[in-house]
Amino acid sequence: MSADHRDGTGDEPVLRAHELTKHFPMGGFGRSRKVLRAVDGVSLEIGRGETLGLVGESGSGKTTVGRTLIRLYRPTSGTVEFEGRDITASSGSRLRHDVRRRMSMVFQNPSTSLNPYLRLEDTLTEPLVVHGFGNTALRRDRVARMLEMVGLDMSMAQRYPQELSGGQRQRIGIARALITDPSLIIADEPTASLDVSVQAQIVNLLGDLQRELGLAYLFITHDLALVRHISHRVAVMYLGRLMEVSPAESLFTEPLHPYSAVLASMHQEREHRIVPSGEIPSPMSPPSGCVFRTRCPIARERCASEAPALREAAPGRSVACHYPGELRLDGSASGVRPEPVGLTFTDAPSVSAPSHPVSVGPVSRTSEEK
Ligand SMILES: Nc1ncnc2c1ncn2[C@@H]1O[C@H](COP(=O)(O)OP(=O)(O)O)[C@@H](O)[C@H]1O
Ligand code: SF4
Ligand SMILES: [Mg+2]
Repeated sequence: MSADHRDGTGDEPVLRAHELTKHFPMGGFGRSRKVLRAVDGVSLEIGRGETLGLVGESGSGKTTVGRTLIRLYRPTSGTVEFEGRDITASSGSRLRHDVRRRMSMVFQNPSTSLNPYLRLEDTLTEPLVVHGFGNTALRRDRVARMLEMVGLDMSMAQRYPQELSGGQRQRIGIARALITDPSLIIADEPTASLDVSVQAQIVNLLGDLQRELGLAYLFITHDLALVRHISHRVAVMYLGRLMEVSPAESLFTEPLHPYSAVLASMHQEREHRIVPSGEIPSPMSPPSGCVFRTRCPIARERCASEAPALREAAPGRSVACHYPGELRLDGSASGVRPEPVGLTFTDAPSVSAPSHPVSVGPVSRTSEEK
């Protein structure tokens, strides 16, 4: 089931994904055909004006979720509803009009997402031309307004991206994402390549814009401190699946899924952190049953045979675990302590408790769908 939530406005969610799946073919034919299960049955909702944080280790499928929602990737199965319309099969002008105008993406690296050969005014005008917005004068006004909104002025418009600082480039990336008046922005590690001081400015800017424009964000990051700070709710991903979706504070103070407990424990002193054993398994051959079972400190027999569905475990909280809440933040487990399943806690997951630098860039509205 989906992680049901509204931001308190009583509106329908701006986006609703149901059992979204994205598999990448990896060669082979017939029975030897291989697929990489990047995203497997993800259901979520994002309320209007809400920030949903999406966290998980590198390779867990966060970027693929974002790119599939905005239809840079065609879903293998499942549905996406955006602003009340089913956009799963939209293409051509419907895709441009229903999706790309009202849902934008801010990428990690503005240096690579801004065209180095275009003056910034042209970079910002391009989406307006694609969407047939106004005439030259109106487009110019819109560009000036966007620059102002992101803390820059029109004197910047004649420059090229390489003449800007990293922070300024990110502001341009955000301005480009905003220029078509979106209701939802998918921000994929938007601060990961910036100095910490600049990172804070960009996070504050995104917060101000949200309040002013009523924007919703899907904020993708591996930075736990950041996601806790900025999100209304947080969705935790592991090996292509959602493990838990909960209000940010509850997730970090009272995690329900064992993997959430692992992540939440990263906020504690080093000696109190819960560190699962081993590496994340390959998404080409995920474990049977619960995909987290090979690293879960409280895994038991049922976990190998029965995949837990994401279901409501407490009001406003969804979790995909047969034994929610049993692994506590201090690493102890309530309920019947299972036989150890050969888990020695050696490697910490590659998510970071402290904040990390990042960079921003807009989605190219001419990007090809894969
Ligand atoms: N275009 C692609 N083709 C094949 N495999 C891909 C592609 N994009 C991502 N993957 C794989 O899908 C999995 C999820 O990747 P990604 O969504 O980038 O994860 P994250 O953003 O959480 O690091 C990884 O195993 C990655 O190698
Ligand atoms: S279902 Fe089992 S293996 Fe999976 S997280 Fe819950 S307890 Fe651990
Ligand atoms: Mg990614």
